[in-house]
Amino acid sequence: MNAAIMSGAGLRLLIPEDAIQARVREMGAQIARDYPGLVHLVAILKGACFFLVDLARAIDRPVHIDFIGISSYGRGKTSSGEVKLTKDLDSSIEGADVLLVEDIIDTGVTLNYLMQVLAQRKPRSLRIAALLDKPSRRIRPVEVAYVGFEIPDQFVVGYGLDYAEQYRNLRDICVLDEIR
Ligand code: IMP
Ligand code: MG
Repeated sequence: MNAAIMSGAGLRLLIPEDAIQARVREMGAQIARDYPGLVHLVAILKGACFFLVDLARAIDRPVHIDFIGISSYGRGKTSSGEVKLTKDLDSSIEGADVLLVEDIIDTGVTLNYLMQVLAQRKPRSLRIAALLDKPSRRIRPVEVAYVGFEIPDQFVVGYGLDYAEQYRNLRDICVLDEIR
């Protein structure tokens, strides 16, 4: 727990650090069972980086890591519906077993778009691992192979997730109560 960051900020603990770590280890073990060979992990900047680092170390298989950057038009708490690439992958994913690593799925707009973009590059397989899912918010369909936790429609921060770039370094996942 990051007591100094949390104090007075209107944050309410939702998923404590130890529960996150235990679930990420389970997800890594599941992924290792499902993939016999090299797993090409693609993390979506910036929120998924904390999850990527823990997940990669929980997968007892060879992995490659790469990053993709996207921005949704309009700042604030939700995607506006339009997405563009701000940073492309460094290497080809043709023929690779790609696992797209995301912090949270909300409307599904981001991942629906990215899955289409990456599928065009002919990976051998393409799946999603998301730490958090808010299924009640979905406006675009997304098939998620690995989900850490389903959560209700609340705005959360910590473990990579931000509000206006703040709170990414919280060890726990907390609800920011004044949002929504
Ligand atoms: P989607 O395109 O609506 O699924 O939005 C996904 C992106 O919105 C995530 O990658 C986050 O960057 C952001 N997001 C959605 N919900 C939250 C939240 O509760 N806290 C922080 N960021 C969020
Ligand atoms: Mg994000």
